[in-house]
Amino acid sequence: MQRQLYTQPINTKSLHIKTFGCQMNVYDSNRMQSILTAKGFRAEPELRNADVILINTCSIRDKSEHKLLSLLGELKGLKEKDPKKVIAVSGCMGQRMGRALLQRVPHLDLVLGPDAIDRVGELLDGVIHGGQRLVEAKFDNEGRSYSQPCNVHRAKPAELLTIVKGCDHFCTYCIVPFVRGREKSRSIEEIVQDVKNFVAQGTTDITFLGQNINTYGKGTGQKLSELIEAANQVKGLERIRYLTSHPRDLGEDLINQFGTIEKLCPQLHLPFQSGSDRILKAMSRLYNQELYLKKIELLRKASPHMAISTDVIVGFPGETDEDFEATLKVLDEVKFSGAFLFKYSPRPGTKAAEFGAEVPENIKDERLARSQKILNHHIEVENKNYLNTVIPVLIESMDKKKQYFSGRNPQNKLVHVMNIGDASIGKIIDVEITDTNVSCLKGFYVGAPKNEINYRRIENHISSSLSPTPN
Ligand code: SAH
Ligand code: SF4
Ligand code: F3S
Repeated sequence: MQRQLYTQPINTKSLHIKTFGCQMNVYDSNRMQSILTAKGFRAEPELRNADVILINTCSIRDKSEHKLLSLLGELKGLKEKDPKKVIAVSGCMGQRMGRALLQRVPHLDLVLGPDAIDRVGELLDGVIHGGQRLVEAKFDNEGRSYSQPCNVHRAKPAELLTIVKGCDHFCTYCIVPFVRGREKSRSIEEIVQDVKNFVAQGTTDITFLGQNINTYGKGTGQKLSELIEAANQVKGLERIRYLTSHPRDLGEDLINQFGTIEKLCPQLHLPFQSGSDRILKAMSRLYNQELYLKKIELLRKASPHMAISTDVIVGFPGETDEDFEATLKVLDEVKFSGAFLFKYSPRPGTKAAEFGAEVPENIKDERLARSQKILNHHIEVENKNYLNTVIPVLIESMDKKKQYFSGRNPQNKLVHVMNIGDASIGKIIDVEITDTNVSCLKGFYVGAPKNEINYRRIENHISSSLSPTPN
């Protein structure tokens, strides 16, 4: 009789992860990809062709949630044709809606919240092998620390790393504290180990993530400034960044580091939301315009070439023309290097959703356009100042048509480079800037001949591409 061979069942399922929302979701998606790859799932680039479609979602504005609902609507036919296809929703909307989402969408198989990311493999097993429809949206709310080694394989030249999750601020417009829970930090030791693992895979630029990163270590006795110092010692790491800072919690120790820590990039995202003290109070932001501008002054004193970006909300309930003028004043005075401008969107369960005094949509649109104009003007001027200068750019990727490469300088400006090849990916090279617009800088590597033919070929489609995704 022939001997039977027993092998482990091989997982032949293909997987597509679609990510909405902020960098934290990008990071969570990277982790889920790694966890599921280790279980044998194959990455499928085309969403509709995948056996398992996992959508990592965002709840920050009504529009963010609509994106998921319309995508789920589109997927209904696919599931009817192939009932074995698995459709799963993770992230903030999964957390916010939980079981209600499963009830509302009959072709959905799995809903998991951000704190269940590590269990995505076993949850999918329950769906695929157990034939169940599952919801896992409990918070891990005990204590102030958590451990979650990142284990991301196939690291890129620039990587994201979440170091603190949740938020305790409860700004009156914001859903994040409801969908990400209370603030909890990982240990410096665990984070530095992750950084070393990334560097061993070729990463040289790390961005630490947290919704309110300045209070990293609350309740654990460790501080963000200490983590930055420890990361600065990691051999092979070239650039350190972090986001998002809160104007009240950005202390002098952190501000001063921009002048003293070699690898800390001269770049900071510091949302001000509104220039009006009255609106800032209604938002419960815990600072006023004066304090915000003071922090900007201190930052620029510590590091004169610092690039500062921000977030703004227009049309918060009760925002008058006068309040809005104060926002324009801050935009004009600070001359930000970049900003995400949002129309206020009421979120269920938040305080501001009960305020009334909604600003009409057409006025929100008008305020958005006026803010964008001032913002763009200053960015264009700043970018023009780069003309004919030579700047260090970490090359991260090639465009889809394989015509140019893109990367970032220490100030986080997007730079397109024409005359380099694949070998440049992951390297920091000197680029001479020859052209700029509001969304990027363009130029040539100084160590190779200029390639004018390539340059002209890309001119037509470069300007509209590759601006950062709003979170
Ligand atoms: N933790 C960060 C940002 C979190 S959300 C901070 O405190 O700044 C990212 C941005 O989305 C916010 O800065 C804010 O500008 C915007 N945002 C949050 N809730 C919003 C809402 N209800 N409507 C419109 N924009 C909102
Ligand atoms: Fe939301 Fe940021 Fe405020 Fe936290 S600090 S509630 S994440 S806007
Ligand atoms: Fe959105 Fe959640 Fe990030 S609500 S902005 S994905 S923390």
